[in-house]
Amino acid sequence: MSPHRLQTRELLVRLDRTRGARVGRQLEEQLREAIRSGSLAPGSALPSTRMLAEDLGVSRGVVVRAYGQLAAEGYIRLRQGANPSVRRLPLPEPGLSAPAQRPARRRMRYDLRPHLPEVAAFPRQGWVRATRNALARAANADLSYLDAQGLYALRAEIAAYLGRARGVAADPERIVITTGSTHSLSVIGSVLARQGSTRMAFENPSHFLLQSVALRSGQTPIAVPVDEQGLRVEQLGDSQSVFVSPAHQFPTGVALSPDRRGELVRWARRTGGLIVEDDYDAEFRYDRAPIGALQGLSPDHVAYVGSTGKTLAPAIRVGWVVLPPAIVDAAVVEIRETLVHVSGIDQLAFTDFLARGEFDRHLRRMRALYRSRRDALVDALATHLPDLQVSGAAAGLHVVLELPSFEIEAAVQKLARSRGVFVDAISQHTLPGYDGPAGLLIGYGAVAEPALPLAVEQIAGAVREASDSCPNLLQVA
Ligand SMILES: Cc1ncc(COP(=O)(O)O)c(C=O)c1O
Repeated sequence: MSPHRLQTRELLVRLDRTRGARVGRQLEEQLREAIRSGSLAPGSALPSTRMLAEDLGVSRGVVVRAYGQLAAEGYIRLRQGANPSVRRLPLPEPGLSAPAQRPARRRMRYDLRPHLPEVAAFPRQGWVRATRNALARAANADLSYLDAQGLYALRAEIAAYLGRARGVAADPERIVITTGSTHSLSVIGSVLARQGSTRMAFENPSHFLLQSVALRSGQTPIAVPVDEQGLRVEQLGDSQSVFVSPAHQFPTGVALSPDRRGELVRWARRTGGLIVEDDYDAEFRYDRAPIGALQGLSPDHVAYVGSTGKTLAPAIRVGWVVLPPAIVDAAVVEIRETLVHVSGIDQLAFTDFLARGEFDRHLRRMRALYRSRRDALVDALATHLPDLQVSGAAAGLHVVLELPSFEIEAAVQKLARSRGVFVDAISQHTLPGYDGPAGLLIGYGAVAEPALPLAVEQIAGAVREASDSCPNLLQVA
């Protein structure tokens, strides 16, 4: 049987001459996609180069080149005196190019994971204005390769903000702009590793992502316990640096006590170790003024890390690290050599956003919103789960609901998920040797206030179900 001969019109090639891509490239891409997707079946004969060129209104050379490329890639067969035809593609190797079967996802009704801010409250108008101002005022040089340390104007605005809002001793020369706290940690980890320091202490528990970022940048995480006063400084052992979140420890929610702050700074001065301060959500404190940054006590021993991930939106990817002067250059080299940095337009936009006071106004609005959500969540937990302890300072974007064992924790997290409620568990963030309480990390950043009691009802249902199946482990009213 002779192969079905396609007419040009059956090919449904649409060339857009207003698009940047050359018409030859468009033809090639569309034919390749049609063959890959099966809409051009194996064995089909394609129109001759002359006919296709005529029908598309392009020169014959354009079609010849497109066919030649597809033949070289194995999509079509060219034969003297015959029309080109579509080849049979080899079956994808299982596990390689075959799209992986995604596990069926449970429907998420309430996303109470602890790291999520309210992106619905992102100041879109303000950001549009800032971006418009940025582009209108940008010099040509701002659109070229940038200072790897970050735009000076942005560093100056951030220094002023951190000085007034967080008590950070920040001058623009010691600030490096990064894409967020994780990037800052990765840069610091690499700098330390190049200097021969590879033992970075981590609070146990602490965010699992940050532990793995440290590992990738050449640091071995050393677990140090946390109690109700925060990091157990006396257990730092022979660590050469320590990653801490003093204002609001993640995930336990405790604040580092004044005694421990002093102890930690003394440790750094005595050993020459570096304190990496993760100030990820310190702007949000609801029962008192935010606790000032530790960095202010000893700027030459602390690398202060902050970002817009919680305050504006994780997608913005603008962060900063305020470094001891001795390692600023090394950090800039890390960034210069990878060319991983924030877009210059976004740097200019955030500069404008800070300079016009929009960031401060936004923080005030968000603080009020989150305070009221936290109150609603804590009230609902007290109503539906009166026997379980809720812990963590009135700060940030999450609370801890303590549970009596890791077995219960796993069961409740799974049952909550089957009811459409997504929460984290403490055990997701522990390092070996952890002996503190089990529990759920319940975020209120991304869930509207009226939905919070409904989500808590589901969590309470999950706790009851778990206690029915492990009656000796949990007595719930
Ligand atoms: C405790 C903590 N620190 C840092 C980060 C990372 O923040 P960024 O988005 O700035 O990289 C997160 C993200 O969830 C976090 O929970």
